[in-house]
Amino acid sequence: MENFTYCSPTEFVFGKGSESECGRYVRKYGGSRVLLVYGGGSAVRSGLIDRIRASLEKENIALHELSGIQPNPLDTPVYEGIALCRETGADFLLAVGGGSVIDTAKAIAAGVPYDGDFWDFYSGKAQIAAALPVGTVLTIAAAGSEGSGDSVITKTDGMLKRGAGSPLLRARFSILNPALTQTLPAYQTACGATDIMAHVFERYFTNTPEVEITDRLCEAVLLTMVKETPRAIADPDNYDARANIMWAGTVAHNNIVGVGRQQDWNSHALEHELSALYNVAHGAGLAVIMPAWMEHVCAHDPMRFAQMAVRVFGCQMNFADPMQTAKAGIRAFRRFLHGIGMPVNFAELGADEADIPLLVEKLGIPAGGSRQGFMELTAADAEAIYRIAAHAEVE
Ligand code: NZQ
Ligand code: ZN
Repeated sequence: MENFTYCSPTEFVFGKGSESECGRYVRKYGGSRVLLVYGGGSAVRSGLIDRIRASLEKENIALHELSGIQPNPLDTPVYEGIALCRETGADFLLAVGGGSVIDTAKAIAAGVPYDGDFWDFYSGKAQIAAALPVGTVLTIAAAGSEGSGDSVITKTDGMLKRGAGSPLLRARFSILNPALTQTLPAYQTACGATDIMAHVFERYFTNTPEVEITDRLCEAVLLTMVKETPRAIADPDNYDARANIMWAGTVAHNNIVGVGRQQDWNSHALEHELSALYNVAHGAGLAVIMPAWMEHVCAHDPMRFAQMAVRVFGCQMNFADPMQTAKAGIRAFRRFLHGIGMPVNFAELGADEADIPLLVEKLGIPAGGSRQGFMELTAADAEAIYRIAAHAEVE
């Protein structure tokens, strides 16, 4: 295991009705004038936004609003939010929604005290040195942004989807009421589940030896998702399934299962180009990319893939030929994704194979260079993975 430090400073407030505590938590973490950020309508329709407003009002917290944040969030509302905060003197960002809303709030939080273009943090030109405090009320278990120090935004000019990370972006508090996710359409539930599993796999496939504890934690999250996702899809109001999925989503990405080990993240990079180009759900893109990446890299360490196959998908270990077990595990993963309604190839996702050269180019791997990870990826590797993804079928 590698050396590490770990700090997850977010206070998680979990359970039924917990959003009614929102105003109290904003006060607790120093907010007196809030910019409330939310999405395209679900939180309004469910009455959640009204309950949030009431909770803030109860604490005499002044309120300004920025709504209409779209999935795969763009830079435009970030600029709008930064201007709004500066104009009104808002001192706290409250995000009510999923990863797209939370990531927008985080980008605004970092942009307000910065004397430059917030995009500098996403292009790698500058590091985040200060940020307004952020709190979240989560409505979809998926991106894990409620517990992560990351934010992913798309620059409209060139449709570049890029991430920025800093401990300063971790939420002060995150309110997790699993009942709020009961209004999710089955497709969004499945997209979220896929993203949660992908966050674990990005950490699970490592070259770091002797990481039994985090291997086992990863497997626990994956097994939970395999069990609970079909239950939540079959019965959307199943609170217990929703509760297990919600906490799995946070644990999958607040890095408790990833410390002390090298991580990969190349499937995410390849996927971000898909969701930027086609505006598809991030989880759906991952459902197409991640098994393709697995097929391309599994020869690098068949035993690690065989371990996943046996422990997560219950495959029989073939000691004479671990590669066979590895491949059985990847097939089982793709079957699982198909079973919960996810696309498995480009056509089902709505992507076009003819765009592969463009996707590879946007990834920005320099000629002769590679992306680090479980297996280093050259531009030719990236192209091969997109090609596998384009034609994949369930077996
Ligand atoms: O806008 P509304 O009407 O709310 O609809 C949303 C949206 O259409 C809907 N929704 C959310 N909660 C709902 C609901 N519908 C009914 N009932 C509810 N309770 O779901 C749709 C998707 O929302 P979104 O916020 O986009 O989902 P998600 O949480 O999957 O976030 C995806 C974004 O997060 C990024 C992704 O790249 C993508 O841009 N990621 C962020 C990460 C991070 N910050 O750590 C890590 C991830 O790997 C990921 O890259
Ligand atoms: Zn993700």
